[in-house]
Amino acid sequence: MITDFEWQECYSIGNAIIDQQHKTMLRLCSEASKCLESSGPESREMFHDLLHEMSVCAREHFATEETLLHARHYPMLAEHQAEHDQYQVRLVVFQISAMQGTLDQAGVFRFLTEWWGSHILESDMACRSYLAENCSSGLDAPEQPVLQENSK
Ligand SMILES: [Fe+2]
Ligand SMILES: [Fe+2]
Repeated sequence: MITDFEWQECYSIGNAIIDQQHKTMLRLCSEASKCLESSGPESREMFHDLLHEMSVCAREHFATEETLLHARHYPMLAEHQAEHDQYQVRLVVFQISAMQGTLDQAGVFRFLTEWWGSHILESDMACRSYLAENCSSGLDAPEQPVLQENSK
């Protein structure tokens, strides 16, 4: 299990917006880990806030990634999208449990860190070349200007 939530340059996807969103997700992992150390009602309150922030962040982030991957014709887009969808479903399940007063805090923490390790560091890295600002993958070759002979 991941225990160090410090951002490292090797996590960079080469796209400032996506890196910023990933940094937010990593910060939320770190906050979840701190919340686990404390107990009581304030810790539960913090987990509720954390889940809410994560769902807002995830919605925006997934839309950013999927728009880019779609525009750049990433061949595994459907599989990538399915992982995002599963993530959101699991978040909703945690949110429902939280509302019913049966929030599994350790489970939320495990879920967030597993997501960091298995999706961001593996699936996102696998399509890094499509997400990077200097992407050349999947883009149609730029149209060459048609040189017309001067018919004078
Ligand atoms: Fe991502
Ligand atoms: Fe992703």
